Amino acid sequence: MNILMIGSGGREHALIKKLLESPKCTKLYCAPGNGGISRDAEIVNIPVMDKEKMVEFAKNNAIDLVFVAPDDPLADGMIDAFEDAGIRAFGPNKNAAIIEASKVFSKDLMKKYNIPTAMYETFDNSKSAVEFIKINDTYPIVIKADGLALGKGVIIAENFKEAEDAVNSIMEDKKFGESGNHIVVEEFLTGPEVSVLAFTDGKCVKPMVSSKDHKRAYDNDKGLNTGGMGTISPNPYYTDEIAKECMDKIFVPTIKAMNQEGRTFKGCLYFGLMLTPTGPKVIEYNARFGDPEAQVVLPRLDTDLVDICQAVIDEKLSDIDIKWKKGAAACVVIASGGYPVDYEKGKEISGLDENGQVEGTIVYHAGTKYENGKFYTNGGRVLGVTAVADDLDSALEKAYGAVSKISFEDMHYRTDIGRTK
Ligand code: AMP
Ligand code: GLY
Repeated sequence: MNILMIGSGGREHALIKKLLESPKCTKLYCAPGNGGISRDAEIVNIPVMDKEKMVEFAKNNAIDLVFVAPDDPLADGMIDAFEDAGIRAFGPNKNAAIIEASKVFSKDLMKKYNIPTAMYETFDNSKSAVEFIKINDTYPIVIKADGLALGKGVIIAENFKEAEDAVNSIMEDKKFGESGNHIVVEEFLTGPEVSVLAFTDGKCVKPMVSSKDHKRAYDNDKGLNTGGMGTISPNPYYTDEIAKECMDKIFVPTIKAMNQEGRTFKGCLYFGLMLTPTGPKVIEYNARFGDPEAQVVLPRLDTDLVDICQAVIDEKLSDIDIKWKKGAAACVVIASGGYPVDYEKGKEISGLDENGQVEGTIVYHAGTKYENGKFYTNGGRVLGVTAVADDLDSALEKAYGAVSKISFEDMHYRTDIGRTK
């Protein structure tokens, strides 16, 4: 099969490495990809949002399967464009990707179908939002821009002033552009966070092994929120009992709710959960694999990913038995110094070759470019170093062992992945 991967980060590299394990995959392309991906797949220079050019490329190159990995092209209807052209594509249609693209939509969906989530109100103007916050008078309070904001559209305000500033920066100053035309103001929840990615064809839902993301930039959960600085799988807080409760109260009801709304979701649905003292609640949905969750979940997948994609597209997911490796995986993200704010690019990366020799580790490339036989940094998150082992401690030891061989100017990584709550 000729397969086209759309996207350019560490998640896409992890998907590509997994697809390459399939005997069915004969030719793999990636648009637009990155330096590391260029060593594993043929790079196609088409911007990630260019639906027309993507479809044209797929037609001209006899593509049998397209995998759309990032949120923006999904929200913009990339899957619909391929389907209209008769090309098989893995991912949700535009009308289902809204579950991530609009927080107002997802909150209203959960309320309507009794899916546990934080209490909330939505607003389309800053004045009534600020009035509500004043009367509510409970802190911390959580303020979320409605639309996609690179994982940065959530502000946890500790007092009225911070809340008012947050509302104004989103709705008046339009810090996240159109994403801030509406906001959600919601109750602050506490408890361990769990990421559960699930395959679904709209008829059945098959959760993958659980994971835990570390979103803050620095050790001890200090610093700004990032796209994710490291992950572990499984999540130690996610017991079999909690998994069953989530299946019954969250996963199945969500799939059914989307069907009821005429927005059948097919692809990978990501449940961002918080295990609160009153039970698991949904913090957010994503319409795609998480990054860097994919970098710990996919290495544990034992079933052919091409077969799973086909089953999802054909709505035959219930026929497939999806198998997972026992043990654990850990991923440490190596970022450019200054990420997620200001950082420099173009630093030469050394130590990647030796690192390849650490058995059981994989280096996924997120923001790199490849020139004249050398890798250079080309983004905020640069590499994701994953190890799979019999248990979490061994996976972490291996991953950090591999990280210690890699270096570039101003590189930064957290030293406590898998060690914080
Ligand atoms: P989101 O983009 O919705 O995943 O939010 C980003 C992060 O903000 C989450 O991973 C949580 O750590 C935090 N967060 C979001 N909503 C809440 C909430 N209602 N209560 C507490 N923390 C939250
Ligand atoms: N790691 C969080 C996300 O992919 O949204």
